[in-house]
Amino acid sequence: MSTVVRPLLGVVDEQCREIVALAREFAEKEIAPHAAEWDATKTCPREVMRRLGELGFMGLKISEEYEGLGLDTLTYLMVLEEVAAADASVSIMLSVHNSLPVSMLEAHGTPEQKERWLKPMARGEVLTAFALSEADAGSDASAIRAQAVRDGDGWVVNGEKAWVTNGDIADLVVMMVRTDSPEDRRGAKGISTFLVPAGTPGLKPGKVEDKMGLRASRTTSLHLSDVRLGPEHLLGQEGQGFIYALSALENGRLGVAAQAIGIARAALEHSIRYAQERRQFERPLADFQAIQFKLADMATRITAARGLAHEAARAQDLGERVTERASMAKLFASETAMWVTTQAVQVFGGYGYMRDYPVERLFRDAKVTEIYEGTSEIQRIVVARGLYSD
Ligand code: CAA
Repeated sequence: MSTVVRPLLGVVDEQCREIVALAREFAEKEIAPHAAEWDATKTCPREVMRRLGELGFMGLKISEEYEGLGLDTLTYLMVLEEVAAADASVSIMLSVHNSLPVSMLEAHGTPEQKERWLKPMARGEVLTAFALSEADAGSDASAIRAQAVRDGDGWVVNGEKAWVTNGDIADLVVMMVRTDSPEDRRGAKGISTFLVPAGTPGLKPGKVEDKMGLRASRTTSLHLSDVRLGPEHLLGQEGQGFIYALSALENGRLGVAAQAIGIARAALEHSIRYAQERRQFERPLADFQAIQFKLADMATRITAARGLAHEAARAQDLGERVTERASMAKLFASETAMWVTTQAVQVFGGYGYMRDYPVERLFRDAKVTEIYEGTSEIQRIVVARGLYSD
């Protein structure tokens, strides 16, 4: 396959090259061949997570002190792209785990919380979920209603979280709930983050959502009925949970950008191969300029999306604040993935509309990248706000 559509490995250091090569080999051999079956059966075997754990991929962003790989953001995004090119469902499980709970625990966990959770997370023994959204609080995330009420030195929590990736298979849920009181609402400052282990009495996953795409990744609601949490479950400071969540979502959005780039790249690579094999009017499709221009535009947009994401990653690795750039990368990459997969279905014609060909799944998988971890409209709001600030 042409290297033009792949990330340039000549411009990264040797450690990055080796990890990306390992990710590509694993993704091509052990994930891609099963992606259609896992999509159809709506499951990804836990064994895959175990293998990813063995390779260190469940601890991509966990510091070495806690047995993770401690990767920089650039390498992390390149690994996610490789996995997403094989199966976007597996990449979102990895991305949610590494971008959201990992970054929140690394940034705000006590030494005891880090010791207890980060090491088994890095080994792949503990899979995590991030629970922010609720049925009536999606884009308007600070409008959540799940409520924690003080009880001695701990809390009792009631409520319902929605659309939680890994919801029924996570061993630990990093959850945002209100800790202000109904009489004294504090908006975004009335939200705190709790570490809620699976199996905590009163915590129950709801039905597994029947989704358009990413069908091998599990998405559920979570019911909380009188869930008792001691002080050791609070992450960071009371009232700071929303800010922690938005800050972690910057990493999440970069992860989704890498996922979208991987989906788009896979769609392009399938299209190039198909255009060379499929003959119409006694010539391969690849000989028609209409197809050549499509493929050239697909490649150009993917490379531009990757450039944006990698620039944001490099800046974050140097300690820069990348709020707007992460949103730009997610916005552009997800809209690129939707556009590229639409073109890919067109290149495949009638076959592209059939489940027997992978571009149909890629098209379905692409859509949610414009929705979750902040819709395209929310990303535009974040970018526009940045334009008006000093
Ligand atoms: N980092 C740190 N702090 C931030 C921040 C960031 N990136 N963005 C905002 N904040 C702070 C603000 O400074 C503010 O604090 P101060 O009052 O001290 O200044 C506080 O957070 C509240 O910010 P806003 O007033 O801007 O909040 P808002 O209610 O206007 O919301 C929003 C802003 C951008 C619309 C935000 O709600 C948002 O991003 N919504 C989208 C929600 C989202 O992305 N959901 C994803 C669900 S999770 C998911 O999809 C995961 C999965 O499983 C796949």
